Amino acid sequence: MKKKILITGGTGYIGSHTAVELIEKGYEILIIDNLSNSEEFIIDSIESITGTRPKFANIDLLDVEKLNIFFANNDNIEGVIHFAAAKAVGESVQKPLYYYKNNLGGTLNLLEAMKQYHIENFVFSSSCTVYGQPDKLPVTEKAPVKEAESPYGYTKQVCENILKDVIKSGAELKGIALRYFNPIGAHASGLIGELPVGVPANLLPYITQTAYGIREQLSVFGNDYNTPDGSCIRDYIHVVDLAKAHIIAIERLIHKKNKTPYEMFNLGTGNGFSVFEIIKSFEKVSGLQLNYKVEPRRAGDIEQIWADTTLANNELGWKAEKNIDEMTLSAWVWEQNYRKQ
Ligand code: UFG
Repeated sequence: MKKKILITGGTGYIGSHTAVELIEKGYEILIIDNLSNSEEFIIDSIESITGTRPKFANIDLLDVEKLNIFFANNDNIEGVIHFAAAKAVGESVQKPLYYYKNNLGGTLNLLEAMKQYHIENFVFSSSCTVYGQPDKLPVTEKAPVKEAESPYGYTKQVCENILKDVIKSGAELKGIALRYFNPIGAHASGLIGELPVGVPANLLPYITQTAYGIREQLSVFGNDYNTPDGSCIRDYIHVVDLAKAHIIAIERLIHKKNKTPYEMFNLGTGNGFSVFEIIKSFEKVSGLQLNYKVEPRRAGDIEQIWADTTLANNELGWKAEKNIDEMTLSAWVWEQNYRKQ
């Protein structure tokens, strides 16, 4: 019998790519999503790619009653990968109550339901935002967690702590927090990818929408940082590489290969790229010239960050494989495919 994995936020950007990888590895996938920042057609796309339709339930994790009915009707779930959360840094500053209620409340309800139904294996979608601007680069998992720059970032820190505390309390639970750097790119099929609602806040969708003519001009936020070309540096990672790490993490828990009941890993490539380098890569792979303009710094941006991936490489036996041009090209292919639909 196929092992069952529940993905919360499974119609979202990283969730959908993870669903595809898991189905292709022979798992049965259940998806819970409230479609607050995603579209239901992604379920069709997952089916088109894999030949298998994941079971989908439109459930908000804040709806405890519906959540309990879901677990009561779906037994033998081996593990949960928890993506469902609001994720826009700027929006979280405007709507802190919504972010705290949604991200913390959803995680608490999910962990309570897992306890009730004796589900032991939990992978949590965390972020390098927990490090703030690190004192030392590349940043390792041992770097201190700094005061969060935004309510969004704080919810990631608190959720990590909740997970740690529940595990410490002697519950059956085992967990892995995966700290993502900057996921970009899309599945090779061009059928799933990043689908921001409204004006994109992140760099890659802004670039591809500008190239497609939906946005007039990309703003480069700052060219006076203390970096070689003056723009900010990030560790961009292909979303499919990231998705694959989730399969390794959940299998590590299922097969009891974890070293401690709570673990965390950086997921990046270990390389930093500047905003101008990303623009250059995009222009190279698309053959287009991007309309962009240097604007003042964006509030809350850190200057530079990239990951030390040694722990993930050694412990998970995982390494990001795709290079920056593959990332920007796949994002571009997805943008064009999606607009043609
Ligand atoms: N940028 C621009 N123009 C844009 C958008 C972004 O120049 O229109 C720049 C930013 O200033 C930054 C870089 O591109 O230097 C990357 O910005 P993103 O918004 O794509 O990504 P962030 O690094 O700000 O944010 C990401 C995730 C968050 C996470 C954060 C951790 O989107 O979820 O990393 O630092 F919390």
